[in-house]
Amino acid sequence: MPKCGAVSTFCCGTQVPTNLCQYQFYNVELGRRDGKVSTKANVQHHLPHPEFNLDQLNSMFSTNGLSQSDMIALSGAHTIGFSHCNRFSSGIYKFSPINRIDPTLNSQYALQLRQMCPLKVDPRIAINMYHVTPQKFDNQYFKNVVQGRGLFTSDQVLFTDARSKATVNLFASNEGAFQSAFIAAITKLGRVGVKTGNQGEIRIDCTRPN
Ligand code: HEM
Repeated sequence: MPKCGAVSTFCCGTQVPTNLCQYQFYNVELGRRDGKVSTKANVQHHLPHPEFNLDQLNSMFSTNGLSQSDMIALSGAHTIGFSHCNRFSSGIYKFSPINRIDPTLNSQYALQLRQMCPLKVDPRIAINMYHVTPQKFDNQYFKNVVQGRGLFTSDQVLFTDARSKATVNLFASNEGAFQSAFIAAITKLGRVGVKTGNQGEIRIDCTRPN
């Protein structure tokens, strides 16, 4: 059973690098029954958007039995991986009629993003989401967000909204607290929507029906 594959199935990213395993171990609950059909149309209304504010994020995660703290820990998965430029371009080009750049972003960071993702960039271009340790599953994501270097509005809002700031500060300053919270939350996430009885199937490859 590809344990890392199980992580990618539950998360909304398109791929999770296999080297995730070098840094983060936890006991994946095996034998999950999944649906036999997997289409974009089925999932797109159930995934959070990068422009979501805290209320929208909390609402979507709580529908699946996940708390605000779970949601913040899970967002830490953005410590690895890539994002296409169009997923965050609104924050650096057309945030609001008054501020083209999201004023909560570190201005140097916003300009770096503009350089990597110019207007009218090839839509296939994707960049490392976070630069300091892009291939290491650590708490660098939270350190970046504290410094105004949250790539998506949904990342940055976790620090700018007073209701979630303390948890971001905790995870930024305490790697162990983040790792334990992440493992607890992703285990909960893995229990969402499990099929029972004869419904669905246990996948041989987590990323697609058998
Ligand atoms: C909190 C709400 C979340 C939002 C708004 C969000 C949004 C996004 C977006 C827009 C991308 C870029 C995809 C692309 O351009 O191809 C992405 C990538 C990614 N997300 Fe999330 N995500 C969220 C939560 C999560 C969770 C819960 C996980 C896993 C536990 C996760 C893991 C990832 C990973 C690993 C990638 C990188 C994919 C790759 O490198 O191909 N995200 N996310």
